[in-house]
Parts: sequence; structure tokens; C-alpha cells
Amino acid sequence: MKDMMIIGVAGAGAMGRGIAQVAATAGHAVRLYDRDAGVLDEAMAFLRHIQDRSVTKGRIRSEDAAALLGRISTVSTVEDLGPCGLVVEAIVEREEVKKELFASLEAVVTPESVLASNTSSLSITALAAGLQHPDRFIGLHFFNPAPLLPLVEVVPALQTRSGLDEEMSALMRQWGKQPALAKDTPGFIVNRVARPFYGEAIRILEEGVADVATIDWAMTALGGFRMGPFALMDLIGNDVNYAVTESVWTAFHFDPRYTPSFAQKRNVDAGWLGRKSGKGWHAYGEGVEAAAPRMDKDLGQDILWRILVMLINEAADAVFWGVASAEDVDNAMQGGVNYPKGLLAWGEEVGLDRCVETLDRLHAEYGEGRYRCSPLLRSRAREGRGFLS
Ligand code: NAI
Repeated sequence: MKDMMIIGVAGAGAMGRGIAQVAATAGHAVRLYDRDAGVLDEAMAFLRHIQDRSVTKGRIRSEDAAALLGRISTVSTVEDLGPCGLVVEAIVEREEVKKELFASLEAVVTPESVLASNTSSLSITALAAGLQHPDRFIGLHFFNPAPLLPLVEVVPALQTRSGLDEEMSALMRQWGKQPALAKDTPGFIVNRVARPFYGEAIRILEEGVADVATIDWAMTALGGFRMGPFALMDLIGNDVNYAVTESVWTAFHFDPRYTPSFAQKRNVDAGWLGRKSGKGWHAYGEGVEAAAPRMDKDLGQDILWRILVMLINEAADAVFWGVASAEDVDNAMQGGVNYPKGLLAWGEEVGLDRCVETLDRLHAEYGEGRYRCSPLLRSRAREGRGFLS
């Protein structure tokens, strides 16, 4: 793979502009394409603003910032992406629209050019199936904001030629990113393993165990998570977060582990989307005082433990099903969503047998498949063997 090939980015929205910045920072010439000329102007203004801010803060020299911006050009047709050695697609999340774009890309790039999708929820294999040369297709799943979060999930399709995953992982390392190899399964690593962070928190709320402020307090003050689940859902947008949960649940043939919640659906129905609408689980805006948590340590520890055990179980199950290695699962949750520790390492620290006991108790109490213990977590606990050691 040529080091300084031209990189194409299709879609100049939130993700595309970030990916363009990452590639240009690594020294590539980048062609940024969007079907909407207004978005391209907006993206360039945004990238200039980011660079200006970095110069003001002394993070980058002004000539380097200018050179970086000079490497990014905007293009208004798919044909302009012809000379690219790699095109990363970050357009609207609709399979048919993406397939149409890849078909027109194949008509203009060379047969050796790599085509990648940044999709969060579509099957990489299904997208590859629309191509004439599906062997050069792969998932490269960045996290938002792409320039700041190190993780990139590298997701080969069934049809991807062997070795392309390693080539792309090496390229991502050159871009200063942390690649994690993931199997093409719903949610890949992060969007699968993180589900209980939201789902179990809402469940605790719905059961009346604690309120939003108290659950967020337990997870941040006691658990060390950078944001509580409700504050994070408000930042992501309840509409977006609900859609991801629903899509993972549907893709898993309605596995009760991922069942979406009525409470979040009602917030979406009400237009209480979070920060962007001024109200979500929390209220926002000037003069709005945040609700006070109930700082009861015992209650807080119970909340943290229940959510944490569910997360550890999900991480163990991802390893069980071969979605990724234990190391990649742990690194992914730190590099993609800023978890304070890897979940499997955390499980080993608190004791896998204690996790199994809690899951079995919840399973017996509720009688729901949601709380079933992963066979791998159970066997590792029984053997007294960790995941990472
Ligand atoms: P966005 O809505 O901000 O940007 C999408 C852009 O694609 C728009 O500017 C639109 O004009 C353009 N577009 C739509 N159809 C097009 C077409 N046929 N040809 C050319 N341009 C077209 O969306 P966002 O958030 O940047 O997401 C893009 C992709 O990245 C999606 O597949 C999404 O699932 C994925 N993703 C999103 C993350 C996020 O947190 N927003 C995180 C990781 C992946």
C-alpha cells in the first residue's frame, strides 16, 4: 500500500469532515465529496475554525495548519474521487443509498483502490455484496469526534480479501488511530458492548430504584465514568441513541438483552431529545438548576455494580462469539467511548465469580433472558482463569 495515496471521503457531515481532518493531519492529500455544496462550504469553514483554534492555543504552527488545510480539497462529483487509493464513505445511514454510491465509485476508481464504509449499523457484508469487486471492501468505523477519539473498528466483510484488515489496521496506526479488529456482527464491538450502560440505567430508573441524577452520580463519582448514562444519552440525542438500541435489538432477532425502553421512547415522542432540544432526561438552558442526586453510598454502589456487571457480561459474550479478542474489546471501550478501564480487566479486578453470582441472582429474580450469564464468563469464573492473563 502506497503511504501517501490520495484519500477520498464521501459525505462531509459530522463524521466525514473529521475523517478528512485525520487523514490530512497524517499527510495525505484528501478529496472531500458531498452531494450538497452547502455542506462542503460549511465543512471547510468548520475545519478552518478548528485549525485557527489550535493555532491560537499553540497546539500547531500556523504554517502547518495552513498546509494541512491546503491538503484538503472539496469535490462535487464522484468522478473526482477517481485517483483515490482509499475512499471512506460517511454518507447517510441507508443501505440502498450507500450501495448506489459504491456502485458509482467502482466505475471511477482503479480495481486496487480500497472502498470503506463508516457505517455504524449496516452489515459490511451486505454492502460488499453490491460491488463488482467485493474483496476490496471493508468497514472502517470511526467514533465521534473522529479527530479526538482514537478508536477505529476495522471490520472485514465475508468477501474481503485476506490481509486487507491488517493493511488497514497499519494505515490507521499511521494516522495515529487505535485499530480494533471486529467481526461483522450488529453493533460491532462498541455499539454492542455499551448497550447496558444505557439500557440497565433506564431499567433502574423505570423500576423506581433511583432517579436520573442519582444514577448519573453513581456512575461518575463512584464508577469513574466521564459522563453518567443519562447525561451521555442527552448529548448523543435520545432519538439517535434509541435508534441504535432498536437497530441492534432488531438485528439480534429481538434478543431481550437489548430490548429498548418505553421511557426513552416517550422522551423521543415528546421531542425531549437532550441537549439539542433543551430538554431530555435532564433540563438544559440558562438558569436551569441541575437536580440534586441522592448521595447515598450504598445505593450508589448497588447501581454501579448492577450496570457494571451487565457491561462485563456483554464484553465477555462479545469475546465468546468471536466478535473481537479480549484485548481489543477492552481497548475499544476505552478508545471509543472513554471508559475508565477495560471491562474484562475490571471484571477480573472485582472477581468474575462475583459477577456470575449477581447475574444468576438477577436472572432468577426476573426470569428474563436479559440477565443470562455468558457461557464464557461462567467458564472463566469456574476455572479461576481471567480473560487477559
Ligand atoms: P451527517 O448527516 O452529519 O452527514 C452525512 C452527509 O452525507 C451529509 O452532509 C449529506 O449531504 C451527505 N450525503 C447524503 N447522501 C449522500 C450521497 N448519496 N452522496 C453524497 N453525499 C451524501 O451524518 P454523520 O453523523 O456524519 O454520519 C455519517 C455516517 O457515519 C453514517 O453512516 C453513520 O452511521 C456513521 N457514523 C456516525 C457517527 C456519529 O456519531 N454521528 C459515529 C460513527 C459512524
